[in-house]
Amino acid sequence: MLHVNANGASIPAIGLGSFTLKGEEGVTLVREAVARGYRHIDTARMYGNEAEVGEGLRQSGLPRDEIFVTTKVWWTDLAPDDLRRSAEASLRELGLDAVDLLLVHWPNPAIPLADTMAALARVRRDGLARNIGVSNFTTRLLDEALATCPEPLVANQVEYHPYLDQSKIHAACRKAGMAMVSYCPLHRDGGLLGREEVQAPARNHGKSPGQIVLRWHVQQEGVIAIPRTSRPERLSENIDIFDFELSEAEMAAITGLARKDGRICDYDFSPEWDD
Ligand SMILES: NC(=O)c1ccc[n+]([C@@H]2O[C@H](COP(=O)([O-])OP(=O)(O)OC[C@H]3O[C@@H](n4cnc5c(N)ncnc54)[C@H](OP(=O)(O)O)[C@@H]3O)[C@@H](O)[C@H]2O)c1
Repeated sequence: MLHVNANGASIPAIGLGSFTLKGEEGVTLVREAVARGYRHIDTARMYGNEAEVGEGLRQSGLPRDEIFVTTKVWWTDLAPDDLRRSAEASLRELGLDAVDLLLVHWPNPAIPLADTMAALARVRRDGLARNIGVSNFTTRLLDEALATCPEPLVANQVEYHPYLDQSKIHAACRKAGMAMVSYCPLHRDGGLLGREEVQAPARNHGKSPGQIVLRWHVQQEGVIAIPRTSRPERLSENIDIFDFELSEAEMAAITGLARKDGRICDYDFSPEWDD
């Protein structure tokens, strides 16, 4: 498994996205993912499945230090005391002493970012999180976070797939030595996998369209992808992408699919995106 080094953290380049994976299905998927080689799991306080993620990890029998666990603090909990309580609640649910990465899930303009960053840094210093970072931060917000956070930020988790140009925030992450973690890396399979720009390299390399798109992610500097699947057989498929390489022309053709209306996750609490 390829790892991305980001300001002192070493993060597996593919992780399991766990949004919607709950109950017995969630436990089984996490346990199966570990059995099939995943060493990185992404959850969030908001997903309501941290207990399942923790149980799946325990059932896997994997030593704690061999798995990278990310969770997130919801945007309504960014005042310092709330952030601390959220981090503590995550650890209780997961059954862990510390997470590997704690992210601010979305920015909240009603709470001074410097206060949030100070609280996030304290959580790291106190050992509740080994690393800290942000999610859904634009270049402007990332600049402000970097300027105010007393501890290093290792990742910005953002929506990224071939339909969405994220070159500005990707450049900002690289400049800051941070990883960019792609969420919705498969565009939730909204037709992307049927495109000829994806199908042609799939035929050429003897890989599935999903594997081509995931390879496109991890072949970019500092990019990590966290695909979700509810099908155990696809767990293996989505991690089996490290034995081939896309050509420059194949990479460029897939990148060329970007379009103005490519974003999926846009809410009334979203920041003003980079254009
Ligand atoms: N930070 C944030 O604000 C944020 C927002 C959204 C998501 N996320 C994180 O990112 C993770 C991934 O994003 P996502 O779940 O929204 O979207 P995604 O990973 O792009 O797409 C998941 C969908 O793709 C299908 N799929 C998975 N592997 C496939 C393959 N090899 N071939 C064809 N289809 C495949 C799955 O169906 P099956 O289940 O049938 O396989 C599922 O419907 C989430 O689970 C969550 O952890 C974070």
